[in-house]
Amino acid sequence: MSSSIASLNRVDIALGDRSYPILIGQGQALWQQAEALFPAGTSALIVSNETVWPLFGPALRERLAPHYAKVEHVVLPDGEAHKDWLHLQRIFDALLQNGADRRCVLYALGGGVVGDMTGFAAACYMRGVAFVQVPTTLLAQVDSSVGGKTAINHPLGKNMIGAFHQPQLVVCDLDSLASLPAAEFSAGLAEVIKYGPIDDMAFFDWLEAHMPALMAREADALRHAVTRSCEIKAAVVSADEKEAGLREILNFGHTFGHAIEAGMGYGAWLHGHAVAAGMVLATALSQRLGLAVDADFAARLRALLQQAKLPVQAPALAADAAANGQRYLEWMRVDKKAQGNAMRFVVLERPGKAITQKVDDATVLALLGDAIAL
Ligand code: NAD
Ligand code: GLY
Repeated sequence: MSSSIASLNRVDIALGDRSYPILIGQGQALWQQAEALFPAGTSALIVSNETVWPLFGPALRERLAPHYAKVEHVVLPDGEAHKDWLHLQRIFDALLQNGADRRCVLYALGGGVVGDMTGFAAACYMRGVAFVQVPTTLLAQVDSSVGGKTAINHPLGKNMIGAFHQPQLVVCDLDSLASLPAAEFSAGLAEVIKYGPIDDMAFFDWLEAHMPALMAREADALRHAVTRSCEIKAAVVSADEKEAGLREILNFGHTFGHAIEAGMGYGAWLHGHAVAAGMVLATALSQRLGLAVDADFAARLRALLQQAKLPVQAPALAADAAANGQRYLEWMRVDKKAQGNAMRFVVLERPGKAITQKVDDATVLALLGDAIAL
C-alpha cells in the first residue's frame, strides 16, 4: 500500500510487528518525515564507504545528531570485494569501541554492498539491533534495501553467509541518484524493468513511455519508478518474507545473470547488466516452453533494455557451442535455485505473470545454442 504527500511517497512493508515504511522523495519534505520515524535509541552508527561518505555522510550525521546521544561512523573501502568477514568485523569493532549497547541503531548509507553488510551486522550485533537503510544507488532503492535479505560473501559463493533481518525504515533520497555513474544507474534500471514482466504490464507500458525521462533522471519519473518498484517488491515480500515460493519471482533473469557474472569473472559485468541479458534469455526460454509469451513482447523487452543502455546479448563463456552450454549449466547449478540435477528457472507464464518451472538441461542447452553467437 502506498500514500503520497506532495512530492513524498510512502510504501509500507506489512510484516506484523516487523512492518516498516519506505519513504521516497527528496529535500526537506523527505527528511522531515524521515526524522519523525528514526528509531529511538541510545546511539547511532552510520556505515558507509569511501565513495559515498564524502557525498552524503556529514549531512546524515547532522540529521541524526539531535536524535541520539552519540553518532559515530565507519567508512569501509568501496566494492563487492570487501563484502566479507574482514570488513564486517570493522563494523563490530566500531560498535564495541564506541560502547554501543542493544539500543544502538545502525544506518546503512550507500548501495547494496553497504546495505547488505550493515543489515547483517545489525542482525548479529548483540543478537539483533535496529537498522535503517539509506540507499544511494537506484538498485538499492528499488531492490536491495527492501525485504530484509542481508549477507556477506564467502570465497566459495556470493551472499552465502547472511540472515533475514528487516530494517525499521528505508529512506530513498532521489537527489542522491544525481551523482551515480551512468553504468550503475542503468544497472538499477534493469531491476526496475524486471517488475513489469513479472507482475505489472501497465508499469511496463509506463516505462516504455517514460524511459527518456528516467534516463534524464527527472525527479517525477524517478519517484514513480522507485515507488512502483517498491510497491511490487513490498507485496511479494509481505506475502513470502523467507522465500518459500513466491519471492523467487524477483529473481527473473537472475539465474542466467549469475552465470554471466561468475563466468565472465566478478566485476567484468555489473549485476544489473547481467540480469538484463538474463531476462532476454529467460523470456526466450518462456517462449521455448510454449508459454504465452509472443515475439512482440520479446522485442519490446529488448527495445526497453536498449533504451536503458543495457546489454541484451548474453556473452559466450567458451569458444565452442558445446563448451559454452556446459559452462553456463555449471555456473547456473551453483545458483541457489538449482535443486539436484533439475534446474529451476523463473519464466513468464505470460507478460505480467512470472512463475518458477523446472527445465531439463537439453532445453536450456538448445536455447543457449540458438541465442549466443560464438
Ligand atoms: P554498490 O553498493 O557496489 O554500489 C555501486 C557503486 O556506486 C559503488 O562504487 C558505490 O560506492 C557507488 N555509489 C553508491 N551510491 C552512489 C552515489 N549516490 N553516487 C555515486 N556513487 C555511488 O552496488 P549496488 O548495485 O548498489 O548493490 C549491489 C549489491 O547489492 C550486491 O552485493 C548484491 O549482492 C546486493 N543485492 C542485495 C539484494 C538484497 O535483497 N539484499 C538484492 C539485490 C542486490
Ligand atoms: N532481490 C531478490 C529478493 O530480495 O528476494
